[in-house]
Amino acid sequence: MTRAITLIGAGRMGFAMARGWVAGGDVALSIVDPAPGGETRDWASSAEVALNPDPAPVDVLVIAVKPQVFPAAIPNITPWIGKDTLTLSVMAGVTLARLGSVLGTDRIIRAMPNTPGAIGQGVSLVAPGSGVRDGDFQTTVDLLSPLGLVEGPLDEESLVTATAVSGCGPAYVFLLAELMAEAGAARGLDPELSSRIARATVEGAAALMAQSEEAPAALRQAVTSPGGVTKAALDVLMAEDAAPSLFKRAFEAAEKRDAELSSE
Ligand SMILES: NC(=O)c1ccc[n+]([C@@H]2O[C@H](COP(=O)([O-])OP(=O)(O)OC[C@H]3O[C@@H](n4cnc5c(N)ncnc54)[C@H](OP(=O)(O)O)[C@@H]3O)[C@@H](O)[C@H]2O)c1
Repeated sequence: MTRAITLIGAGRMGFAMARGWVAGGDVALSIVDPAPGGETRDWASSAEVALNPDPAPVDVLVIAVKPQVFPAAIPNITPWIGKDTLTLSVMAGVTLARLGSVLGTDRIIRAMPNTPGAIGQGVSLVAPGSGVRDGDFQTTVDLLSPLGLVEGPLDEESLVTATAVSGCGPAYVFLLAELMAEAGAARGLDPELSSRIARATVEGAAALMAQSEEAPAALRQAVTSPGGVTKAALDVLMAEDAAPSLFKRAFEAAEKRDAELSSE
C-alpha cells in the first residue's frame, strides 16, 4: 500500500531520510520547505516528489526543522495532521508533551537520528508517545531503517541520554581526529601530515571495529602492550579526572541543553 508522507524541512537530516524513503518505494512524498536548495529541487522533480503542495491530512507527517524554527512553522504543520495521521518528530529537545499540546494530537513519535544516516550508517533512537496505535512503532522503524540501526522503543528520558551518545556522537569522533592532529602539530609534526594521519587513523580504527565482533575495550587492550607507548598515553587519557570525567560532564551539558530547547 502506498503511504502518503509529508516532510516538513528538507535540510541535512530531512533530505537524507527522504532519499531513503523514495529508494525504498511505495511512498507518495511531499516536501514542505520555504526555500529548498537546488539539489533538493532537482531531486524532487526527478523523483516525482511534490514540493510545497497544498496541505491535506497524510498518513505520516515528519517534522525535521530546527527546534528554534518550530514555533514559527506550526501553522504550516497542523493542516497536514488529520485523525489518522502519525506525526514523527526528529527535532532535538522538543518533548512529546509540547508536541502534543501545540499540534493537537497525541499520536506522536519522537526520534533522534544522526548524520551518518546520510550514508546508511546512522543510529536512530525512537520514543513513542502515549497515543500511538498498533503498527506505528514499526512504521517508524521502517522509515528510519534506510538510515542504519534503529533502537527503541525508549522512554523519553532515555532518549535524551541516548541522544548524548549517538545524536552528538559523530561530533565527538570528528573532534577526536581534530585533537589528535593538533596534538601532533603541537609536538612539532607538520600540521598537514598530522591532520592526514589523524583522520586516516580514526577512519581505519572505526572500519576495524565495524569488522570485528570484539568489544571496543578488547580492541583497545589488544593494541596496548604492558609498559608500552600506547599504555603511557592511555594512562593520561583514562585517569579518573581526564576523559571519563569529561564525558560525564559533556553528557550532563547535552541533557541540560535538551531541556532548555524544550522550553525555548
Ligand atoms: N543534523 C543532525 O545531526 C541531527 C540529528 C538528529 C536530529 N536532528 C534534528 O533534525 C532537525 C533538522 O536538523 P538539520 O541538521 O537537518 O537542520 P537543517 O539542515 O537546518 O534543516 C532544516 C530545514 O528546514 C527548513 N525550514 C526552515 N523553516 C521552515 C519552515 N517554516 N517550514 C519548513 N521547513 C523549514 C530549512 O530551510 P532553510 O535552510 O531555508 O532555513 C532547512 O532546509 C533539527 O530539529 C535537529 O534537532 C538533526
